[in-house]
Amino acid sequence: MQAHQIIKAVFITAASFLLLHSCYYDNKTELYPAGAACDTANVSFATFVKPMIDKECKLCHSGTNPSGVILLTNYSEISASANSGKLYGSLSWTSGYKPMPQGGNKWSSCDLLKLKTWIQNGAKNN
Ligand code: HEC
Repeated sequence: MQAHQIIKAVFITAASFLLLHSCYYDNKTELYPAGAACDTANVSFATFVKPMIDKECKLCHSGTNPSGVILLTNYSEISASANSGKLYGSLSWTSGYKPMPQGGNKWSSCDLLKLKTWIQNGAKNN
């Protein structure tokens, strides 16, 4: 090997090392996604869904003249909205649905995941 070939070999080795090294850090978000910390194991209607909706939605979706003619005050009304797809569609700000809560902040990805889990488990009165 001539001197310049050795230098080249050393350079390529060093460059690949740096490249692989940085790839490890690039993938950190894939290895540890934010959702990993979201505990959806014990999500229930009584402990999560109802309190969240009471807090964020009841103001407009209750009473004699509810917004959008949608009542969200009890299990049958909330589960009907969940089963129609409108509840998750509007809360996840999916196009085709009105983003909710109107004039408020979008639910966190963890809260949306909890709601989705409850719906996928059958939107039970649990
Ligand atoms: C400030 C009042 C207000 C609040 C708070 C609010 N909504 Fe609404 N919501 C409305 C209005 C008004 C409409 C009808 C919008 C329209 O048809 O243009 C509506 C419509 C909806 C719809 C029907 C969406 C569709 O695309 O058909 C759903 C589902 C809904 N709201 C769920 C919720 C939920 C769940 C919350 C709480 C996280 C919430 N809303 C909070 C005012 C509100």
